[in-house]
Amino acid sequence: MTPAAISIPLATWTDLVYLLCAAGFILALKGLTNPKGARRGNLVGAGAAAVAIAMTFSRPELRDHLAGVNHGLNLILMIVAMVVGTAIAVPAARMVKMTAMPQMVAIFNGVGGGAAALVSITEFLKLTSGSGSSIPPAVLKFLPTGVTSPKPAVYVIAEVLVGVLIGSVSFSGSAIAFAKLQELMTGRPITYPAQQVINAVVGLAIVGLVIATLVTASVPLLVVVLVLSLVLGVIFVLPIGGADVPVLISLLNSFTGLAVAASGFTLGNNLLIIAGTLVGASGILLTRMMSSAMGRSLPNILFSAFGSVITATGGEEGDAARPVKSGTADDIGVLLAYARKVVIIPGYGLAVAQAQHTARELADALTKRGVEVFYAIHPVAGRMPGHMNVLLAEANVPYDQLKEMDEANPEMATADVALVVGANDTVNPAAISTPGSPIYGMPIVHADEAEHVIFLKRSMRPGFAGIDNELLYNPKTTMLFGDAKDSLQKLVAAVDSA
Ligand code: TAP
Repeated sequence: MTPAAISIPLATWTDLVYLLCAAGFILALKGLTNPKGARRGNLVGAGAAAVAIAMTFSRPELRDHLAGVNHGLNLILMIVAMVVGTAIAVPAARMVKMTAMPQMVAIFNGVGGGAAALVSITEFLKLTSGSGSSIPPAVLKFLPTGVTSPKPAVYVIAEVLVGVLIGSVSFSGSAIAFAKLQELMTGRPITYPAQQVINAVVGLAIVGLVIATLVTASVPLLVVVLVLSLVLGVIFVLPIGGADVPVLISLLNSFTGLAVAASGFTLGNNLLIIAGTLVGASGILLTRMMSSAMGRSLPNILFSAFGSVITATGGEEGDAARPVKSGTADDIGVLLAYARKVVIIPGYGLAVAQAQHTARELADALTKRGVEVFYAIHPVAGRMPGHMNVLLAEANVPYDQLKEMDEANPEMATADVALVVGANDTVNPAAISTPGSPIYGMPIVHADEAEHVIFLKRSMRPGFAGIDNELLYNPKTTMLFGDAKDSLQKLVAAVDSA
């Protein structure tokens, strides 16, 4: 066999490199499943994406396209777009505060969905104008004259419609999610009469229009599908409360993945199909995990306008008639300093107060005195998945001091002190003892099993779920009122001088 006969065409090399990149994406996801591997996973994913982009420029059909009319301008436009994108994304990602991470994910996810929708629209316009230029010439030359697609047009239109519909819902939904989290609009659920009926009518109208576009390949109908999909994205997100928005973002992220996979089918790009499917599948799994960690179904999160009503007796300030024990930082410092085992349970308030570094200082001061200290991390403590792990990792808390809820709970009964820092719902025993409570069924960290419970919070106000927490009134509980960071600073000083 001559060397020419065994030479591998460039398209095959491209696909082989794409395959390696896809393996890189899977390894990246694996790395991201734990704090130790997260940084490496991130780098592997970014590296694979960079190689994939570079390889795309060597694809035969793109080179043929660039060799055609306006090739110089197209190339310049692509490079300018990449430079502008990089110039915006790199500083944004470096400077974003951990508490603002969900809105950054929302906006980046939204533009991904919008891009997938635009690619689909471009392909539709090419198809209906008969140019069909995204079909590799190597394939085109085997097709009968005048046929511009190797697939029946109806399949291509179906792929385009999936891309336009899902990509646009993801784009406009993410934009509203961003506005809610950035407090550009109210974070409370926005409800109005017959809301779900209106949503359903818009949804059904889109289904009808999609079928009509499939049959007629009409550009004006596609434009109507596009506009209604953007509207659906907005009205779908309005009734979802700010604190549930991270779950929604995970779902929209999954939608964007599916829209990208649809574009991959349209463009005949295997890597887009794989990457889109990975995002789609991992997004939906994450959505499910978050819902079950909150003990709530996905329909309840999406359609119940959760968080619009506060049901705590006595309103936002708790039940004034019931006695509550509050202590001083000095007394609590002594209790901590002479304890054997202290479990720190961080929550949303720790993130708001940016108290992660001070929490570590307290843990260090206690560890130095021979006290065993670890952090019990509830999967939905805070407002987004992995919130607490990331914050504490940023404060250089040793990984072996971080225990997931399931690992921490069997040890709670042997703890002398459960120090609850800006957490509330995630330690609320109503999740176990009160059927009918909005959080009934949500797994909790069993702070109530420790010998003493200390709450660091500013008031008796409820947490995100808006319900009373019996543990605040328990005789073994002591409240230390104040901002979490201030209180922790006082406790560090008290432990040092104990
Ligand atoms: P929450 O139950 O919301 O309680 C946070 C507590 O922190 C509040 O009671 C608040 O009390 C206190 N706080 C706020 N700012 C503070 C500050 N500067 N200093 C001290 N305390 C402060 O938080 P959690 O226990 O972390 O539970 C998370 C909740 O969010 C759950 O209901 C969960 O279902 C929901 N959620 C989580 C996620 C994810 S994925 N993490 C997603 C959606 C929803 P004061 O106002 O009295 O200070």
